[in-house]
Amino acid sequence: MKFFIDTADLEEIRDLSDTGLLDGVTTNPSLIAKSGGNILDVIANICDLVSGPVSAEVTATEFDAMMSEAKVLSEIAPNVVIKVPLTVDGLKTCKLLREDNIEVNVTLCFSAAQALLAGKVGASFISPFVGRIDDIGGTGMELIDEIVDIYSQYPSIETEILVASVRHPNHVIEAAKMGADIVTLPPKVLRQLFKHPLTDRGLSDFLSDWEKTGQSILNLAEDRKKAAE
Ligand code: G3P
Repeated sequence: MKFFIDTADLEEIRDLSDTGLLDGVTTNPSLIAKSGGNILDVIANICDLVSGPVSAEVTATEFDAMMSEAKVLSEIAPNVVIKVPLTVDGLKTCKLLREDNIEVNVTLCFSAAQALLAGKVGASFISPFVGRIDDIGGTGMELIDEIVDIYSQYPSIETEILVASVRHPNHVIEAAKMGADIVTLPPKVLRQLFKHPLTDRGLSDFLSDWEKTGQSILNLAEDRKKAAE
């Protein structure tokens, strides 16, 4: 399973890319607004840090304007993925961009029917928003299950399922069990994946027992080296 990070915060991206776990980045207009930067610079800076796909979303809502914005965004770097909303104009834009071999992430997906349409127009990625479905009393992960099932019936659909609007580690585990291709994680959730209280407690016990021995692996190695000289 691939891990993308859902942020436009360069410090977070830099910090988490050092873990070697990041396969890509997703942004949206709200995240760009939160970063305080201009979208062209922010996306260029992210692309300097990450070699995997970086989603940059168009903000126009009509086909011609979406195409013009997509052209500008796709010229920023070769790894830019154009993000379009799941609307009629968004899917028209997706189809044309895919014919030009430009990668497209279709976002704001809330139903299996919408995911099927995105698959039909050759989207590179479909982004179902699981957290926002949970927020209104639904079960976001049921949608992932349905999309995995539908796409698996049609080998000609190459669209990758990018689970978005992830709120907690359980979303990630459920998505992995279902075989979703990618999760895009807020930095906080990625950090939560590392954590387990028994890891912390176990490490603390090991270290306090170790301290009692008075040993240091590096000092012992140094002593050995000197003795052999
Ligand atoms: O980037 C799209 C998506 O992940 C947004 O998530 O938390 O705003 O519902 P959220």
